[in-house]
Amino acid sequence: MLDEKILNILRHNKDSHVSGEELCKLADISRAAIWKHVEKLREEGYEIEATPHLGYKLIAIPDILIPSEIKWKLKAKIFGKEIISYKKVDSTNDAAYELAEKGAGEGAVILAEEQTKGRGRYGRRWISPPKSGIYMSCILRPHIAPNEIPRITLLAAVAVTKAIREITGLEALIKWPNDTMIEGRKLCGILTEMKAEQDSVDFVVVGIGVNVSTPAKNLPKGASSLKDELRRRGVKIAVSRTELAKRILEMFEEYYDILGKKGFEPIIDAWKDLTAMLGARVKVTLPNRNFEGQAHDINPDGALVVRLDSGVLEKVSSGDVVVIR
Ligand code: BTN
Repeated sequence: MLDEKILNILRHNKDSHVSGEELCKLADISRAAIWKHVEKLREEGYEIEATPHLGYKLIAIPDILIPSEIKWKLKAKIFGKEIISYKKVDSTNDAAYELAEKGAGEGAVILAEEQTKGRGRYGRRWISPPKSGIYMSCILRPHIAPNEIPRITLLAAVAVTKAIREITGLEALIKWPNDTMIEGRKLCGILTEMKAEQDSVDFVVVGIGVNVSTPAKNLPKGASSLKDELRRRGVKIAVSRTELAKRILEMFEEYYDILGKKGFEPIIDAWKDLTAMLGARVKVTLPNRNFEGQAHDINPDGALVVRLDSGVLEKVSSGDVVVIR
């Protein structure tokens, strides 16, 4: 807490030095204690200059996914109110699920620099090496029926894709239901899990994984990272994971709010604006059968409607869908 207090004082005075005396007064602690906390911040990666007679000055902030960095100027009221971050965890979804069972509130966010058992849909692995991606899970307690939970997944895809577009300028698109892609390569995946009774939802965990700078050699076939996609286009910006994670949370809250106030229709509209999939030929893989057809529409439950060659419309509520042309 005190580290955060000192950090925020330095942040507010970013272009000038804050004298030791002033810092002591503002943080209400001794000089020796200031020094100890500055050292701790330095260990975390903050570059803090200490100049005799002038005092302390914040020079550089590390791109780390810790609560104080995410909370700083975060424009969200509920999402990120409570943030827990790990250097290493099995899976942020598992950690979030456990916390939700213990009563963690809506909008609580779990982050990790690395996951040792990152999970994807259908029991797949989600490659989660240290400091190269965003591994984040959000806890929600929506007042909707269990069969309406796919709405949250589509909503999350809109939020993440919009945030990626805004922060990187990349023209990322959504592939049903919730993959963020660019030219057929996957940049981000979302894993939604929930605890529910027959007709009420206890909580939902929305796990978001973004490949920010993960080297291509570590990623599965068909996946890519923001860094590689920017490099491909000759853009030399380093994507700040902190800024992107914050924007995702802000967008998530914005659309979650819309869902609560105006229902699912505006979410579907936003989703449709961000996909190039409708009209394309797709191959659908279900547990018991496969078929091809044309991606025709998204129905009011968020299911994909596929028109078979026979003209019959098939509703796909969950399954693997690949665009074939
Ligand atoms: C998919 O596309 O298959 C979904 C991938 C979801 C990965 C994220 S990373 C954060 C959270 N923790 C996990 O173990 N999985 C999700």
